[in-house]
Amino acid sequence: MSVMRTKSIEQSIKETDDPEFQLKKKLSALDLTVFGIGVIIGAGIFTLTGRAAAQYAGPSIALSFVLAAICCGLAALCYAEFASTVPVSGSAYTFSYASLGELVAWIIGWDLLLELMLGASVVAQGWSQYATLFLEKIGFTIPESVAPGSAFDLPAFVLVAALTALIAIGIKESLRVNLVLVGVKLFIVLFVIIAGLSFINTDNYRPFIPPAAAGEATEGLAAPLIQVLFGLEPTTFGILGIVSGASIVFFAYIGFDVVATTAEEARNPQRDLPIGIIASLIICTVLYVATTLVITGMVKYDKIDPEAALASAFESVGKPGYATLIAAGAVAGLMTVVMTLIIGATRVTFAMSRDWLLPRQLGRVNPKTGTPVRLTLIIGTLVALIASLTPIGKLEEMVNIGTLSAFALVSLAVPVLRKRRPDLKRAFTVPFSPVLPVLAALISVYLMLNLSVETWLRFLIWMALGFVIYFTYGIRNSRLARRGSQEPAQESSRT
Ligand code: ALA
Repeated sequence: MSVMRTKSIEQSIKETDDPEFQLKKKLSALDLTVFGIGVIIGAGIFTLTGRAAAQYAGPSIALSFVLAAICCGLAALCYAEFASTVPVSGSAYTFSYASLGELVAWIIGWDLLLELMLGASVVAQGWSQYATLFLEKIGFTIPESVAPGSAFDLPAFVLVAALTALIAIGIKESLRVNLVLVGVKLFIVLFVIIAGLSFINTDNYRPFIPPAAAGEATEGLAAPLIQVLFGLEPTTFGILGIVSGASIVFFAYIGFDVVATTAEEARNPQRDLPIGIIASLIICTVLYVATTLVITGMVKYDKIDPEAALASAFESVGKPGYATLIAAGAVAGLMTVVMTLIIGATRVTFAMSRDWLLPRQLGRVNPKTGTPVRLTLIIGTLVALIASLTPIGKLEEMVNIGTLSAFALVSLAVPVLRKRRPDLKRAFTVPFSPVLPVLAALISVYLMLNLSVETWLRFLIWMALGFVIYFTYGIRNSRLARRGSQEPAQESSRT
């Protein structure tokens, strides 16, 4: 049995016609762009901006956003090439099954699950904090025993349960709700930019790049791996501060890759997926850079509130009403992120179950809703439990490491697939391959090295669990393994 076996693109595309595993093709390029913006703009801009500006980069946090956007842009080009060549649900997982082989595909799928499920949980926790704050402002207090930060975060649980039900009902319905909420979110971000412009004091931009200073020493498991490996001194601000800021605000861009998980539900995936992925990334980059320039222009960087920079900036210029509006916008905005990440997780596990790397009964599509209801309920339950039972602030870095490892592998897979299958029709191609894909992979690994030792250990445990499942289940039961050995006659008639 070979863990390097690959699944041909033609085979992947053909299996999407299996009526039991068929998703409805309803999404346009605009739907996909809105979907992308819905998942990208979230906890990152509403919460991390302040922390990164105050502690790492000052006004040059705008440059951190540009740097993180360049990293994501390179990866996005690779995702777009794959999505235009392999328009099959499952994103990076499916791409790598066609190029790097079953084991690597499984590993990427496993990484994506980490990104998507924990990402949904983290943002649900953030939502719960904002929702509680907002409810308090309008005179309703959540009992302390079930408030965010307690042993059981009830608002996070309720949110995930409600969104799971919506997703199970149908993708088009989910995206209709998404459209409204994305509208609210865009309005709030534009509001911050436009309303904030008149409060900018250009003195706050001086110095734009604050001079480098010794950073807070982080020791032991909390230290970044790169610091431990190379014995580096922790620094903050200056040019390195811009890089540290970028590795933090990277979280704000996570999500454009999720667009690729819906490949099979796009009406014209070869054309629309690259548009959806790249357009949503560009729009978000412009909004992020504008927002950070406004916020750091309104408040001196050392006075920025690291918890809720956007709302607090308006409080500090005597506009508390605006702050409440922004909190309400965050409540709506974070909801779409959670929903989209859950959709992504169900589509990745759906693809794995259709390949029988996970039990295939799990992935059956309900004929009425056109969605994999069973999988949706399982993923939703897991996310609800993780979001409500784990402490706040512990999972963010795990999301980053899961995403970055998938970025690195997908980028490397682009030149590999070009070499193996030069004949395939590629509606979109990454320029300067293999230089750009290799650069994308190197930058992803560099950012991973900036994550803490603790995160790396947790990541290794997660990977070990993945290997155990693959070597005890997937390797024997995968559709490719069975087709090759145990039940060829039966399978060839089925597929
Ligand atoms: N990019 C998403 C956010 O910032 C995950 O919430």
